[in-house]
Amino acid sequence: MAHSFISIKKFADEPYSNILGYPKATSRQIRSRINELEKLKIKSVSFTGSTTLGNLAILGKGYVGVVVLVKKGSKQVALKIRRTDSQRNEMKNEVILLKLANSVNVGPKMYVASKNFLVMEYLEGIDISKWVNTLKGIGSAKKLKSTIRNVLEDCYRLDQISLDHGELSNVSKHVIVGKTKSTLIDFESSSTKRRSSNVTSITQAIFIGSGIAKKTQKIYKNPPKEKIIDILKQYKQEKTRVNFEKLLKILKL
Ligand SMILES: Nc1ncnc2c1ncn2[C@@H]1O[C@H](COP(=O)(O)OP(=O)(O)O)[C@@H](O)[C@H]1O
Ligand SMILES: [Mg+2]
Repeated sequence: MAHSFISIKKFADEPYSNILGYPKATSRQIRSRINELEKLKIKSVSFTGSTTLGNLAILGKGYVGVVVLVKKGSKQVALKIRRTDSQRNEMKNEVILLKLANSVNVGPKMYVASKNFLVMEYLEGIDISKWVNTLKGIGSAKKLKSTIRNVLEDCYRLDQISLDHGELSNVSKHVIVGKTKSTLIDFESSSTKRRSSNVTSITQAIFIGSGIAKKTQKIYKNPPKEKIIDILKQYKQEKTRVNFEKLLKILKL
């Protein structure tokens, strides 16, 4: 679908400024943010997406940021705008962690950032729980398996570099499934200082937790929970490829 874009200058005017300075900003803050966007070469913005804020459609919203579709030059990219009430006073930490994830080909590609913004690859798609609900008919099991397998491989690579995503137990908010790939998002709460538990968290969320587990169960018969928990314990002890592949096998992936 073609999106319509408006000039970044209009971002300073209501109602658009409510997004740029969500939930509340002074006109000085807004002016300074427009300046920051110009330095980042952000030219225009499109109000599109499945979340609405006020009366405007956006790509999404969390506790740290509000995400909109913008153009940097002529390229469509996602812009994460730091909320004025965010616990974080800059985006720097998330930038470092996202770059680290990118080093093993995980997450949306990080492009540029500044104090209040993070510019990254725009991921077209829907969250994994909604996506699972769209599956029906022949080929569903195959599609589901390959998507879960890809997500698990991403988690395995993050485990290997000891980068713990931190929020994968809430899987629906952190995996976007598109036509050609699925991507883990939001490295805001990630850390290299904790024990990384990406594979275990996401396996629990997908196969043991209630929401998605129920739906996947209908599409293909999952192994007994005890068996999954058992192999996860082994993997936790030793995050080796051998143990990871044992897990994939048990999960019939
Ligand atoms: N690169 C992206 N492409 C498309 N949508 C995105 C992208 N990054 C985030 N979103 C959307 O914006 C929402 C909020 O982003 P997120 O990074 O989770 O913010 P927060 O750190 O505040 O939780 C996500 O749930 C998702 O719907
Ligand atoms: Mg989030």
